[in-house]
Amino acid sequence: MAGELEGIKDEVTACLRCGLCSTRTNAVPGSGDVAAEIMFVGEAPGRREDMLGEPFVGAAGTRLSGALERAGLSRSKVYITNVVKCRPPDNRVPTAAEREACSEYLQREIAAIRPRIICILGNTAFGSVLGGSEITKNRGKIAAKNGNLYFITIHPAATIYNQSLAGVLDDDIARLADVVRQLRDGRMEVKPDITYPSGGV
Ligand code: URA
Ligand code: SF4
Repeated sequence: MAGELEGIKDEVTACLRCGLCSTRTNAVPGSGDVAAEIMFVGEAPGRREDMLGEPFVGAAGTRLSGALERAGLSRSKVYITNVVKCRPPDNRVPTAAEREACSEYLQREIAAIRPRIICILGNTAFGSVLGGSEITKNRGKIAAKNGNLYFITIHPAATIYNQSLAGVLDDDIARLADVVRQLRDGRMEVKPDITYPSGGV
């Protein structure tokens, strides 16, 4: 539903629902293919995203794009968004109140796109969307919640300072690509590794 997505984008761009509206340069709505099979959910815009109004266009975005390409996924065919759409000052982790204020947008993005699977990038998205913690123990897993299917992996920014994690991200995104192929071909009865109780996003 392209129209609904455009509506969400316009609302986000003008949003005053939390205090981050007063420190942002630009709000950063989700971006990508309305018909995406995969939706990626990061934490919050960083400095470059805030300047450009686009998600994952800085160093973390370069890491994400590289992992997508190596897995045979085209960035233009996926949809990329964040738990909060405005940059927290100094890139601090968004507060519970900020995440709560912004959560309706993510719910509506999911409802508008209906992706086959939603890829959680890092601990903030893991906690906000699934109520999970300890990303390193849970990465690589498939989860189910509220009738949606999720894939859990690390935040691409984590690979910048820890080279060994670059391989982890690559391996996870390759598995994600394989799961999506199987879902598309109807070859897979998806058995989630974890099922979360409903509620929240
Ligand atoms: N980190 C995120 O979580 N999201 C972005 O859009 C950029 C960096
Ligand atoms: Fe609105 Fe979300 Fe930005 Fe807060 S972070 S002002 S809720 S768009």
